[in-house]
Amino acid sequence: MYRAYVITASDSGWAGEREDRSGPAARELLTEAGYADGGYILLPDDREALAAELRRVCDGDLADLVVTTGGTGFSPRDCTPEATMDVVERPTPGIAEAMRYYSLSITPRAMLSRGAAGIRGSTLIVNLPGSPKAVRECLSYILPALGHGLEILRGDASNCARPEALG
Ligand code: MTE
Repeated sequence: MYRAYVITASDSGWAGEREDRSGPAARELLTEAGYADGGYILLPDDREALAAELRRVCDGDLADLVVTTGGTGFSPRDCTPEATMDVVERPTPGIAEAMRYYSLSITPRAMLSRGAAGIRGSTLIVNLPGSPKAVRECLSYILPALGHGLEILRGDASNCARPEALG
């Protein structure tokens, strides 16, 4: 069972002006998908604070998967992709591409998410957009493939070949 940690990046949530519904939505979906709930934190849209938290979780091996929500758009304070790429050692652009590809079939505004993804140590970090709706749409699309990625990352699967394909 892989451990998932959820980070919500939201100035208004941090200030207590808006209830965070996106982080809990992500946690619920991840639990339904069989992940162990590794924890959750709400942070402001602060590049240093977000990067520090990502480093803490990855370097302490506190989770196999870190999902962030929020801060991927065009607001001057949106900095989640920058904080993510500050700590990522190996980018995994296909995950962000897949989310945008799928999301564009729902709304053209999907192109406005600058979300990134990548690996630090043995932890995969994935940025989701900020709305609970976007969290559900993006996570439900990528979750079926993420498990296999984590198996490879964690050394639980050596390659992508199915036994019957090995001949
Ligand atoms: N992706 C999906 N699947 N569904 C959505 O509703 N909203 C978009 C986009 N991606 C959306 C989506 C919108 S309107 C914006 S502005 C960007 O995500 C960035 O959102 P964020 O700044 O809350 O991270």
